[in-house]
Amino acid sequence: MSNLQIIIGSTRPTRAADGVVPWVLDRATTHGAFDVEVLDLRDWPLPMFGEHVGSIGDRADPTYSDPIVRRWNQTIKRGDAYLVVTPEYNHSIPGVLKNAIDSVFVSFAFRNKPVASIGYSGGIAGGTRAIEHLALVAIEAEMVPLRNSVIIPFVGSAFDESGDPKDPMTDASLRIVLDDLQWWATTLEQARAAGELAPGSYRARAAQAQLKGG
Ligand SMILES: Cc1cc2nc3c(=O)[nH]c(=O)nc-3n(C[C@H](O)[C@H](O)[C@H](O)COP(=O)(O)O)c2cc1C
Repeated sequence: MSNLQIIIGSTRPTRAADGVVPWVLDRATTHGAFDVEVLDLRDWPLPMFGEHVGSIGDRADPTYSDPIVRRWNQTIKRGDAYLVVTPEYNHSIPGVLKNAIDSVFVSFAFRNKPVASIGYSGGIAGGTRAIEHLALVAIEAEMVPLRNSVIIPFVGSAFDESGDPKDPMTDASLRIVLDDLQWWATTLEQARAAGELAPGSYRARAAQAQLKGG
């Protein structure tokens, strides 16, 4: 089974994420296609990104500036698909989530794996702008961002006493996202096993060196 990692993008006390994540976890587990792992960034107090050539050491097995950065890279590496639960902060994703993505550095752990988003916010926008930003960040991390997502406006009143979404389309949207993640995770697992190109940045550097040499 594919390993689906649910990444919780808010860490603040009283976060609305705690009303969303139990539902996501339940639906992802009962979907049946995944081994589900929750990566709560509260459990990952990563330093503000500051890696450099000196902190990396051996590129094949980087040491990083702090053991937690190494563990974070190794953990992301074992994921086959990512489902990011993110609020919208100032029309983007929270800094803590961006920092966690930036911290996947040199290992290319996200590379050629699908990612989808569940966005929420206190207002009508429902995290749409955070979802759009995250897709751009995901491209640069060489993930495969998926078209479908889950949008939860007015998150404070979006769930009933049992923790189920009041709008049935919210559940339908998550089902669609999980089906997409299953298809892409399986497809890309097979493709990676058949052989991957070197990362784009490496190939660009090699091309540049060749052009300078010639
Ligand atoms: C720093 C900050 C910036 C925010 N910016 C936006 C925003 O741009 N658009 C929006 O719809 N809601 C915005 N909100 C409201 C949040 O989406 C809402 O408070 C949500 O519950 C935050 O998720 P959390 O409680 O899990 O951290 C912002 C909240 C904070 C704390």
